[in-house]
Parts: sequence; structure tokens; C-alpha cells
Amino acid sequence: MKDTIRIGILGLGVVGSGTVALLQKNRVSIEKKIGAKIEITKIAVRDLNKKRLVTVDRGLLTNHCEEVLDNPENDLICELIGGVSPAKDYVLHALRNGKHVVTANKELIAKEGHDLLHEAMRRRLDFQFEGSVGGGIPIIQPMKNALGGNEIQEIMGIVNGTTNYILTRMTHEGAEFNDVLEDAKAKGYAETDPSSDIEGYDAQYKIAILSSIAFTSQVNVNDVYVEGITHITRRDIQCAQELGYTIKLLGIANRIGEDQMQVRVHPTLLPSEHPLASTNDVYNAIFVRGDAVGDVMFYGRGAGMMPTGSAVVGDIMDVGRNILFGSTGRISCTCFQQRRMASMDLVETKYYIRMIVIDRPKVLAAIAGVLGDHQVSIESVVQKAHLNDNAEIIWVTHKTKEKNLRSALESIRELSVVLSIENFLRVEE
Ligand SMILES: NC(=O)c1ccc[n+]([C@@H]2O[C@H](COP(=O)([O-])OP(=O)(O)OC[C@H]3O[C@@H](n4cnc5c(N)ncnc54)[C@H](OP(=O)(O)O)[C@@H]3O)[C@@H](O)[C@H]2O)c1
Repeated sequence: MKDTIRIGILGLGVVGSGTVALLQKNRVSIEKKIGAKIEITKIAVRDLNKKRLVTVDRGLLTNHCEEVLDNPENDLICELIGGVSPAKDYVLHALRNGKHVVTANKELIAKEGHDLLHEAMRRRLDFQFEGSVGGGIPIIQPMKNALGGNEIQEIMGIVNGTTNYILTRMTHEGAEFNDVLEDAKAKGYAETDPSSDIEGYDAQYKIAILSSIAFTSQVNVNDVYVEGITHITRRDIQCAQELGYTIKLLGIANRIGEDQMQVRVHPTLLPSEHPLASTNDVYNAIFVRGDAVGDVMFYGRGAGMMPTGSAVVGDIMDVGRNILFGSTGRISCTCFQQRRMASMDLVETKYYIRMIVIDRPKVLAAIAGVLGDHQVSIESVVQKAHLNDNAEIIWVTHKTKEKNLRSALESIRELSVVLSIENFLRVEE
């Protein structure tokens, strides 16, 4: 049996450094657990002179990725660069060279995972990506293994730490979105270009990955509805709180019948006693509902150097064991079905609507009439504030189809007494 697993690493940024630091810190126990030594042969970076978050022998670094990819000694390549290009080419190159691959790259898996997994499967190679969703939270391996006997009905979770941090601070401090965002950037909780987080794309990649595993079907990431948090105001958070709700950015995936699914990302009002409502700051939490197990919740640090390093090292150990026992390529692409993505029009949920109207008799009745005309029934209505001759009205509807709600709002916008529809948001129970 081999006595050493040799790893080449692409990228020594946040996750690369966490991976190397953990392999250094817990080397003895990690090697005992898998029954072989782990050796890092080379680490490719862009800038050889950059200050690193972890201390490594200067001789390990290279700025030629080929030195990592084409080293015949390597058993396994860790892709920790990020993005699709050139990461996809590097991963394909590694697989074609017969190397197992571990990555934390959610964008790559969400967009190209199907092809890459098939390439790995054809070659009986391992291709693992636990760090791509939920940072340090084990979710992909548990869904493929421990929960593998279940038909998964639903996934609902907070899968982006940056937006959760922003919404938590807006909720607790009564702060506005832009003020918290600037502070989050200054503190390093948000990127200089935060669009992937705040526009919901990061969560879109993650829920696409989870739903494809849960529903054993390829999910085209572009079919996943996405709405970020940039339109959430302090006022919405305050009104939601007064109604007993907390606003969170959720990834939601539902199985519909035998051949459809609904996968979406959007800010959602959750009852404040819901466990996801108290998942705060940069923490992530993911509910999975299986037909046998019922509800399971995964909770923990959804990003960061050491948590994500923990996920990558877990994958490295798993691949290492498979190499030692000649059992690589056991679990590969599990998308053996073809489910259609149901249109957002068919989503059926409750809605929160906040609008400003002219404060005069019969206005409520007029709006309620339009809602009724579109089969939208009302659970509650509150008139909040009187500003000059205007009033703010907040409606919570009973469950209704999104299509009905949208057409009702179009008609309501045309009423002369309605000055603005400030926001409408989905409500989960
Ligand atoms: N950060 C997190 O908390 C987190 C959590 C979960 C998953 N992820 C995923 O993990 C991956 C890495 O993220 P990260 O935060 O570690 O990124 P990062 O800090 O920007 O690090 C990227 C690393 O890749 C290197 N690199 C980039 N392009 C390269 C190229 N063409 N050739 C060689 N090296 C190259 C960079 O080199 P230089 O250092 O020389 O510039 C850097 O070391 C991404 O897919 C990300 O989505 C991140």
C-alpha cells in the first residue's frame, strides 16, 4: 500500500492558506487517521512575493500552474483559485492527467460541475467539493452518504454569510443597507466588489449545487430565480419585526411531483421564532427535509480561512483513503434524472406588501378589491403612519400564486390613490 498521498495545490489565498495551515497544525493526527503521510509537493500562486496568511517554505511556491498539474508524483490536485476561467481548464487538465481533484469553487461546480464530474467518473477519479457550500459545514457528503436513502423534499437555508451579516446588523441596529455594507467592507466581511453576495449570485450557485444533489437532477444555474438584498430597507425590517417576522436571504429548493423542481433565492420574511431567524451574523444554516429522516438542520461557519480549510482537508482525507484502498470514483455525479424547473409564476406562498397611498376613505377597500379580483386573499392589513395626507399600508396575504400576486400589483400600481408600492416580499411559515 502507498505510504504517502502527494498533493499539489492551486491557490494560496484565504482557503488555500486555511487548508495548508490545518494540514500543518493537525498533521500527526490527520496522517494517523488515514494511515499515510500527506505531502504538499507544490503550491501555485500568481504573485510569489505576496505576504501569505500561512508560513510555507518559499521553495514550495511557483507561479507556473503546470508545475503542479504536470508533476507525475501528485495523486491529488486542490483547486483553490476560484472562478471558472482558468480554474475549469486546470481541473480538466488535472483529471486528464489522472489526478483526483478537490475544490471549494462554488461558481465552477454550479456552472460546470456536471461536465467535470462526468470527466472524473469516466476515469474513476474522485472529484470532491465539500467547501463549495456552507464553508465549514458538512452538507454535501452528508447528503450523498448519510442522507442518501432519503428522497429529499425540500432544502431551505441561509447560505451566504455576508448578506446574513448585513441583514443581522440592519435588524439589531436599525441601520440602513448602504451604511452597514460600507462598514462590512471596512471590516473585511464584504468584498470590495460585493455584488456576488448582495445580488444573491453566491447563494444562487450554492442552492443550485445543493438542489442538484438533493433532486438527483442537473440544475441549470441560470434557471434559479435570484433576487438579492439591495432593495431591503430599514423600514421593511422594522415593519416585518412588528408583524413578528425577521428578514433573511434564503435559498429555497422544492421538489414538485415526479419531474419538476422549484429553486430560488430571495429575501424572505420568517417567523421570528423560526430557527433560521436566529441564525445571525456570518453563520449559515441549512434545513434539509427527507422523506425518512424528516427535518435536519446543518449550522455553522459558512466561510472563512479555517472553516473552509476544514472542509477541504476533510475531502483530502476522504480521497486519500479511497486512493489507499483502491476505491476511488465510488461517488460521482448523482444526477440521473431530468427534472424541469417550475416557473416562478407557480410559487405559492404568503406575501408582505408595503405601499404608500393617499389617506382618504375607501382606499383600503379599493386595493382589497383589486387583490380579490386576482384571487389574492388578505391575512392582515395594517395602516402604519400618516405622513401629510399619505398613509403607509402593510398587507400580508394568505398563500397565493406568485402570478396572481404580480398581476394584482400591476393593477394596484394603476390606481390613482396608490403613490408607490415600496416593496413586496415572500413570507415563509
Ligand atoms: N473565502 C472563503 O471564505 C471561501 C469559502 C468557501 C469557498 N470559497 C471558494 O474558495 C475558492 C478560493 O477562494 P479564496 O477566498 O481563497 O480566494 P483568494 O483569497 O482570492 O485566493 C485565490 C488564490 O488563487 C491564486 N490564483 C488566482 N488566480 C491564479 C492563477 N491564474 N494562477 C495561479 N494562482 C492563482 C491567488 O494567487 P495570489 O495570492 O498570488 O494572488 C490566490 O492565492 C473560491 O472558489 C471561493 O469561491 C471561499
